[in-house]
Amino acid sequence: MTTSPEQIEKDLFQHGFLPIEPDPTLDLFEEIEKLKKEKNAIILAHYYQDSDIQDIADYIGDSLGLSQKAASTDAEIIVFAGVHFMAETAKILSPEKKVLLPDLKAGCSLSDSCPPALFRKFKEKYPDHVVVSYINCTAEMKTLTDICCTSTNAIHIIESIPQDQPIIFAPDKNLGAYLVKKTGRDMVLWDGACMVHEIFSNEKITKLMVRHPNAQLIAHPECEEHILVKAHFIGSTTGLLNYTINNPGQEFIVATEAGIIHQMQLRSPNKTFIPAPPENTCACNDCPHMKRNTLEKLYVCMKYELPEIHLPEWIIREGRASIDRMLEISAKAGL
Ligand code: 13P
Ligand code: SF4
Repeated sequence: MTTSPEQIEKDLFQHGFLPIEPDPTLDLFEEIEKLKKEKNAIILAHYYQDSDIQDIADYIGDSLGLSQKAASTDAEIIVFAGVHFMAETAKILSPEKKVLLPDLKAGCSLSDSCPPALFRKFKEKYPDHVVVSYINCTAEMKTLTDICCTSTNAIHIIESIPQDQPIIFAPDKNLGAYLVKKTGRDMVLWDGACMVHEIFSNEKITKLMVRHPNAQLIAHPECEEHILVKAHFIGSTTGLLNYTINNPGQEFIVATEAGIIHQMQLRSPNKTFIPAPPENTCACNDCPHMKRNTLEKLYVCMKYELPEIHLPEWIIREGRASIDRMLEISAKAGL
């Protein structure tokens, strides 16, 4: 059987090899709006996306909010402006829908730090432990997980587990250590981390705090402990955003990916937001994976309905229980 040139083109595109550039004279905002209506598509975006993508999205949120939206939407196509594990989670929750990711190579260093084959071996050493995995992991990891969590619900999830039940927490050792401290539970931690949240410079942050004595340091729990101990507030991306809206403070040093500052500035135009400086010469702290998605790729992806997320049926079936459990506990906690 021969493959048609059209199919070859689609296969290459699906694997990210075909650079289809949109016509530069197009107003991409207008075109994307048209495609949304024509195709009954919804754009879900994480706070770490480019400002343009956040501005055109139908829903912007943290990992929990995005999962809840992916589970409840009645759109036929979910366009996920985020990274691969997020789009996989949407596919697990809505397997009958088409789930698109503008750039399939938008991965996650934290998810990569926990290969399922290695984790399977690790888990065998602790047969009586329950596995709680941060949602930032592959779909296959979710099949090895009892309950997923996000940074918004992690404390509730851990506290929902009986005190005498031992726990493995994967893959983020920083969030894990933070949870051990907050809940008093002695968990076995997988040794993984996020490249963006591990790069903040303690020394440069200290200097910034001296120069801006009224500024509050706000940090994501994926940061290392030496940053978290200095923070005035620790929370998920939504938690950090809400803190900047509700707190009377006027200046904030933001220790998470810099994309969220766009929402902070929109919600509090008169407040000042300073990105926490990383341990390198770059002035920013962008996630290179999140930032692979661009408005151009979003448009092309919606026009051609590619690249699409496909998952084996057994992964959808076995991965779903850990996410459903997380959503149930979150709903009970009013999250
Ligand atoms: P939340 O938005 O759920 O806090 O997660 C942060 C993150 O690192 C996503 O990749
Ligand atoms: Fe992964 Fe970190 Fe990027 Fe989030 S910010 S997608 S955890 S690498």
